[in-house]
Amino acid sequence: MPAFGLVLPAAGEGRRMGEGPPKAFRLLAGRPIVLRALDAFARISEISERVLVVRPEDAGSVSARWAADLANVRVVAGGAMRQDSVLAGVRALSESCEFVLVHDAARPLVRETAVRAVMETAVRTGAAIVALSLKDTLKRADRDGRILETIPRDGIWRAQTPQAFRRSLLLDALERARAGGAHLTDEASAVERIGRPVAIVEGHETNIKITTPDDLRLAEAILAAGF
Ligand code: C5P
Repeated sequence: MPAFGLVLPAAGEGRRMGEGPPKAFRLLAGRPIVLRALDAFARISEISERVLVVRPEDAGSVSARWAADLANVRVVAGGAMRQDSVLAGVRALSESCEFVLVHDAARPLVRETAVRAVMETAVRTGAAIVALSLKDTLKRADRDGRILETIPRDGIWRAQTPQAFRRSLLLDALERARAGGAHLTDEASAVERIGRPVAIVEGHETNIKITTPDDLRLAEAILAAGF
């Protein structure tokens, strides 16, 4: 398996979490979400470099506060949009990382099996993401909540992270997205828009993105249940 770099974007404001510190710095069962997210990759020896992307104003305090946990992690300043933060993180990796894993700091419950599956698929294909197929029926509605149509769910997936790419491909895709003024919500979109294939690996439902206080409670329940 070639060398991987890990980029963990944690530079969002997390406004939907309400007042307080950025969501990734909040405690989940006594340990900061962002450190739990890093823990999920701790046993994967193919990851040779780790980059944590935080808001520029948090970079100094984060490095000092969690010095021991971040001993082998480079902390870099992110940007206004997620794609700016990820690009800053990817640029901080050395060329010896042939592949990159990008993972939301807000998804601390990802399983090692999902990480390994996406890594293996990316090495075979160049680009792969973890995603979930849909169990619910999909509706499109107007602003008043009136249903306009039912959308066939065949072939529809919910994209999650981790997402893994050949480093040169992701770098090129993100730089072209920036030059083209594209606004993206995940890294695969950058690769899709330059016409390159991205493979899907089925993920797991407990890999939730902690966005609201309810998500934090749900994550605590998932941990307590031993998932
Ligand atoms: O905003 P969203 O929930 O999609 O954020 C997903 C991840 O991207 C979070 O971990 C967040 O901290 C990060 N992010 C970032 N820089 C931004 C916006 C979001 O690193 N400007």
